[in-house]
Amino acid sequence: MNRRLLFRMFRVLMFAALVLGMASGCDSLPGRPDPADRYQRPDEVTDFTTLFATNCSGCHGAEGRRGPATPLGDPHYAALAQPAYLERIIGDGVGGTPMPPFAQARGGNLTEEQVSVLAQGIRAWGADVAGSTPTPPPLVAASPDQNPGSPARGEVAYAAFCADCHGPGGAGGEKAGSLVDPAYLGLVSDQALRTAVIVGREDLGMPGWQADQGRGISAGEISDVVAWLGSQRPSSAQGRPSGDGR
Ligand code: HEC
Ligand code: HEC
Repeated sequence: MNRRLLFRMFRVLMFAALVLGMASGCDSLPGRPDPADRYQRPDEVTDFTTLFATNCSGCHGAEGRRGPATPLGDPHYAALAQPAYLERIIGDGVGGTPMPPFAQARGGNLTEEQVSVLAQGIRAWGADVAGSTPTPPPLVAASPDQNPGSPARGEVAYAAFCADCHGPGGAGGEKAGSLVDPAYLGLVSDQALRTAVIVGREDLGMPGWQADQGRGISAGEISDVVAWLGSQRPSSAQGRPSGDGR
């Protein structure tokens, strides 16, 4: 065997040893492996904090705060969102928005058990305020068809409850950004708009219904404002699902 061939075989062996070493992780180190360090397959993870940090906080923020998407960690959100609703949204995603489906049956990577762990964990964030009074309007409208809201009334309610911060006509003001930017409206469901009005973005300076009850926006006015904002969606996005998870 010539030296060059020997050298090449040596490199192949070194490479194989490196790969094996990486695959077996700490087990290859001297001493007894700690069972707690045992590698967990991603579908075996059932710790809520880990599941949320790995799959959700990129969009919803660490512990559900200060992310670009819905503040799931706001206790008022967590107390209002029913487990079955959470499981449906987490499993199916929200079509036409960046919220992806996570259920394996929908092409996601989470088992039914993991989806349920996430729903229970989010609920637990609301334990301190659950059952507090007065009760805000329902987080989820019974059905957009039953309670469609009126865009014309919504424009009036907008001027009363939102224009101070979001500016006249929704075009943005000193305290908050535009709500009628087509790029924004085209990617957000009616449910997300409704959630924003009821829960607020207290992490970003928008009071939710609980903090702002004195101003008393009614359940009907919430549906109206959402209908008015929704009516300004770019036409290509009209008729898109309004947060029904399909
Ligand atoms: C790629 C970004 C992204 C990731 C990752 C993501 N979400 Fe979302 N999520 C969104 C967006 C955007 C919305 C708002 C969708 C809409 O317009 O209705 C949303 C909405 C939701 C809602 C409904 C909020 C409401 O209005 O009631 C829940 C619940 C939710 N996400 C849970 C999760 C959980 C749990 C995870 C992790 C398993 C997760 N999301 C991961 C972007 C994301
Ligand atoms: C006291 C000021 C204030 C008032 C009043 C207010 N908002 Fe906001 N709103 C904010 C701020 C601040 C943000 C976060 C920063 C931004 O989007 O400009 C925000 C964000 C939002 C968002 C985006 C939420 C998200 O998840 O990113 C929506 C939708 C919204 N507001 C709708 C409304 C509607 C509808 C009303 C009236 C019912 C209203 N706001 C009243 C200050 C306000």
